[in-house]
Amino acid sequence: MARKLIVTTALPNANGPFHIGHIMEYIQADIWVRFQRMVGNVVHFVCADDAHGAPIMLKAESEGITPQELVARIAAERPKYLNGFYIGFDHWHSTDSPDNTALSQDIYRRLRAAELIYVKPVEQFYDPVKGMFLADRYLKGECPNCHAKDQYADACEVCSIVNTPADLISPYSTLSGAKPVMRTSDHYFFRLSDDRCVEFLRSWLTTPQRLQPQVLNKAREWLSGKGDEALGDWDISRDAPYFGIPIPDAPGKYFYVWLDAPVGYLAALKNYFDTGKARANGEPLSFEEFLAAPDTEQLHFIGKDIIYFHTLFWPAMLKFAGPPYKVPDHVYAHGFITVSGEKMSKSRGTGISPLRYLEIGMNPEWLRYYIAAKLNANVEDIDFNPDDFIARVNSDLVGKYVNIASRAANFISRHFGGELKFSGDTGLLAREARGIAAAVAGHYEARELGKAMREIMALADRINHDFDAHQPWVLAKDPANRTELQDVCSRALQGFRLLTVLIAPVLPEVAGRVARELFGMTRTFTWSDADVLPERINSYQHLMTRVDPKQLDVLFDVESGPKTATDANLARAEAKAATGANPARAAAKSAPAAAKAAPAATPVGTKEDSSGAATISIDEFKRVDLRVAKIANAEHVEGADKLLKLTLDLGFETRTVFAGIKSAYDPALLIGRLTVVVANLAPRKMRFGLSEGMVLAASGDEPGLYLLSPDSGAKPGMRIS
Ligand code: 2FM
Ligand code: ZN
Repeated sequence: MARKLIVTTALPNANGPFHIGHIMEYIQADIWVRFQRMVGNVVHFVCADDAHGAPIMLKAESEGITPQELVARIAAERPKYLNGFYIGFDHWHSTDSPDNTALSQDIYRRLRAAELIYVKPVEQFYDPVKGMFLADRYLKGECPNCHAKDQYADACEVCSIVNTPADLISPYSTLSGAKPVMRTSDHYFFRLSDDRCVEFLRSWLTTPQRLQPQVLNKAREWLSGKGDEALGDWDISRDAPYFGIPIPDAPGKYFYVWLDAPVGYLAALKNYFDTGKARANGEPLSFEEFLAAPDTEQLHFIGKDIIYFHTLFWPAMLKFAGPPYKVPDHVYAHGFITVSGEKMSKSRGTGISPLRYLEIGMNPEWLRYYIAAKLNANVEDIDFNPDDFIARVNSDLVGKYVNIASRAANFISRHFGGELKFSGDTGLLAREARGIAAAVAGHYEARELGKAMREIMALADRINHDFDAHQPWVLAKDPANRTELQDVCSRALQGFRLLTVLIAPVLPEVAGRVARELFGMTRTFTWSDADVLPERINSYQHLMTRVDPKQLDVLFDVESGPKTATDANLARAEAKAATGANPARAAAKSAPAAAKAAPAATPVGTKEDSSGAATISIDEFKRVDLRVAKIANAEHVEGADKLLKLTLDLGFETRTVFAGIKSAYDPALLIGRLTVVVANLAPRKMRFGLSEGMVLAASGDEPGLYLLSPDSGAKPGMRIS
């Protein structure tokens, strides 16, 4: 009996492009969904933009556009990423939609009828200039403990003490600079502390297999929290002006964005059905019928940062709204993705740009495989490590998997006109295939994607080993070995077909091509193809190239060109090393971003002086924040030919800077030295980590590189002007 599944991923905020964390979650869910479909289950896989809330309202205002225009602009970019990484949502919707308004208001009315809503006055800071209540993130002031200025209430950056907004000395609104005033307003609350809710949640949380053990433990702690930590009621209203859904019968009040966001899951599903897309995809039921069906399962893939909302508020809302709403069957949380061990932060711009990944022509299925190979069913962070990425993709996908087909198919095409023939026990081959497929299916089902990939690659190893042990290239030399040659290559290709079925959820494009081009099929693989022995093949078409390590350099080098003398030297040096002849061409090849450095033409409005450099105004020069820095540490960077990793003490903070000065300096001799750093250079992602500034060095046409130093007496952090 086929399962009926609603699968969602967390709705992304509609105020910015996707980052690698979004793409990781979508890839995880997409692989799981593709597997479910291959085994014959019905899946409706939907998502939407999370459009509401104050940040989006304020961002739109700052750009002079409406929030709807902002959301539409962001939404227009989504398909590039989703199609680019083969993420096959059935439907993408928005929480700023009539469906979501209707569903959110309906759920609210039902909760109110169940006496789970009440109104209570709340005192809060209000910005009299902006005319709005201020969430804590829009308030700053002096820390009452260490008297550092310009601190947020939640945690002082200097002394780390946690304050409340009312504790701050001379608070001000970050929106207008105005001094906020205390004002009281009625807020609407969802009575989560009600005995009915607590009792329900206790049983929902502990239903076997519903949650991962780590998530269950956390949710249980929240549910049974004591004292200050006791489960509180939930403030679900925000006062106008707010970009959100109006609360029925409460003029000027809007649902807090976290109320209508998860309802967006259902709104997306409803819109998918109501627009006829579900029917076109073979779904006979209506939205209400599908949702209300007792055997429909509702599953949410989310990040670990939003467990609270999905394991307490959301199930309780659905439970007490009643049928046709149903409580989630599973909430699957994943960890974060770090890049070279560094936690991703949007503001610091670390991480990998998924769009850049696609734009520079990197294969999306490399990333799908790499993420699959790293993920398990626990709430663990995974790390994107460039060298590991190169090694895994090149060794597993190209070296082990694709290699089988490219080698075996050529013999079969050349010597046997594409016909496969097995000499041994084909029943045994099929039985073995079924056994492996069952093991891999178990891993996919349990979201143990890493285990599934390991099982698949172990099979690829066995197939390669078997193929090599028979030395088909030797067999091919003697016609007396024809039968054995055909058998060896047929088994390798049967193994390749099995591998392709097993890895199809991860590599949908390659698997589709293998089915079509190599095996001449008119449909994609299903799981039951695993034990079917192929009879013929068409000639092999190239399936996948290796990752070139230079692609990773380009991926991480997000700037459009070298910003430094040392960077330019680095590009030149690499160019020379690469060809010894044509530095310009080699630079374009080996460091494309850097090679763009030399501008094609002098920008309009600037003059060139006799040294060839365009003149700038004093104001332009003043925009560069040059500081004295002390080199607190200097070390070699593993795998880097030209770089040293410098730890710079700027007096007020410490920075890491990668500098292309290895050819000229022994790191041990740099420690303790003063130098000059460009302190306001945008951080720059490099393959080895984030470079947070640039040290200045002189260089000419002759070899040699000379780090700048201030005269003695200068102190770290001093401004240079
Ligand atoms: O954390 C976030 O990015 C939210 N936009 C997730 C919402 S998930 C669901 F509830 F909509
Ligand atoms: Zn402080």
